[in-house]
Amino acid sequence: MSKKAILAFSGGLDTSVVVKYLQEKYNMDVVTVTVDVGQGDDQKKIAAKAKKLGVKKHYNVDAKKEFVSDFIFPSIKANSLYQKKYCLATALARPLIAKKVLEIAKKEKVTALAHGCSGKGNDQVRFDVTFSSGSNLPIIAPIRDLNLDRKTELQFAKKHGIKIDSVAKKFSIDQNLWGRAIEGGVLEDAYKEPPSDAFIWVKTKNLATNPSYLKIQFEKGVPVAVDGKNLNPISLIEYINKKAGVAGIGIVDHIEDRVVGIKSREVYETPAATCLIEAHSDLEKMVHTKHENKFKSLVDDEWSWLVYSGLWEDPLRKDLDAFIDQTQKRVSGTVKMRLYNGSLRVVGRKSKYSLYSYKVATYGKGSTFDQKLAKGFVELWGMQSTEANKLQRKR
Ligand code: ARG
Repeated sequence: MSKKAILAFSGGLDTSVVVKYLQEKYNMDVVTVTVDVGQGDDQKKIAAKAKKLGVKKHYNVDAKKEFVSDFIFPSIKANSLYQKKYCLATALARPLIAKKVLEIAKKEKVTALAHGCSGKGNDQVRFDVTFSSGSNLPIIAPIRDLNLDRKTELQFAKKHGIKIDSVAKKFSIDQNLWGRAIEGGVLEDAYKEPPSDAFIWVKTKNLATNPSYLKIQFEKGVPVAVDGKNLNPISLIEYINKKAGVAGIGIVDHIEDRVVGIKSREVYETPAATCLIEAHSDLEKMVHTKHENKFKSLVDDEWSWLVYSGLWEDPLRKDLDAFIDQTQKRVSGTVKMRLYNGSLRVVGRKSKYSLYSYKVATYGKGSTFDQKLAKGFVELWGMQSTEANKLQRKR
């Protein structure tokens, strides 16, 4: 066997099945790579699983730091929520995983790049585009190429003695530091409420009877401290995931437009992302001018759309990042949030760059804003609108 494939390997159902397919149907040696983006799996167990599947070599790459600094933080700066809801946890991790696989592919002199994505989802786009942006090697995606469905995969796994945990039998899960995506099974009925066993990060029962508060401090658009503690970026996200999750915050349930045109029902647990994006966008409103706020929200939407759609490597993403970074110079300050019974509310914010001025805004005595000036402004502002209506009335 001289053909050698490198596979992005999570140890789950899809990628385990793919190892066997590559060996048996494609007649290839397999090198596996697991990239740790904070999915919380036991890396030793995954390595053992890969060995048991007969791979030639297994690599484990810890990419958590890079994931936060180069992917999650830019997404916070972009207030990134695809279709106003999804924080892109999976979408952000894929290009990083693909890049790490490419790095090892060079070293291992493989003849093909492989992934375990189906032809129905977005992940195939993210892997294919990142792979093709960095290499000319052919891409093999057995699940897509052989049109495999989940039931067939489960049977194939059983036949090959591949152990699948009980959650994977119910749902298709993808998780990392930024969020947990739950798909499939009973969730495919879009009208059915997700069963509580779908959730692990967010508490849904017996929530605290008192509110708790979360204080997040930002420096140039990125979080640097929480509840008065300076934490490293990974610990900071873990801290918020825990605290907000216990308060019942971070469940998202929506209908999502996939790249390939399918509408899917998606359920997520994203406590830290929910809090951080809410806090960050609130702070931006305080320090940015109304013109910056209006324009940046267009850029943010475009950024989210590109990244969701697997085009992390498109030059436009970097162009947008340059604009976004420029806007973050004044996004420093603190946001206070109230967490209670599954709901989240910003209850205070402050910044040395605040454009909010009490003296201007107050309805009380002593405002520095001269109300009389407003009259002429309003007349000019509404001139065309009132004129158009005057004409209508004449008719
Ligand atoms: N719909 C999300 C996305 O495309 C999440 C996909 C999660 N994958 C999974 N196997 N559950 O980014």
